[in-house]
Amino acid sequence: MPTVIVDDRSVDVPTGTRLTIAIEQAGIDIGHRCGGKARCTTCRVVVHGGETSTMTRAEFVRLRDAGLLGSHRLSCQLVVEEDMRVESVMTKQNQGWPDTGPALDAGVVPEAVWLERSDLEAEQGA
Ligand code: FES
Repeated sequence: MPTVIVDDRSVDVPTGTRLTIAIEQAGIDIGHRCGGKARCTTCRVVVHGGETSTMTRAEFVRLRDAGLLGSHRLSCQLVVEEDMRVESVMTKQNQGWPDTGPALDAGVVPEAVWLERSDLEAEQGA
């Protein structure tokens, strides 16, 4: 099983686990204020290891529109395929939220099709 290191915690999760869920399982109250639908960016992370070159179209568009493309990834749009090291950004504690957000589906929403970032840049004119 891949190991996810997030901040000062680590957790082993089955391959294919949604990264936001892995982070929660590590005990980090990461935000997912839109319910994991690639709309809010509160689940964003900085990836320090294990980043993939592919992303969903929904993630690409949201990161681009928020000015976060290239610096952050949306954990709700990623699944764990191999060991990863990530840094959380927005948590219940550092944002003062009453909770982290609506419960997440186990699978990526919208239905995930992973595309090479370079193909998305060409397609989206980024
Ligand atoms: S939970 Fe809202 S964008 Fe990921």
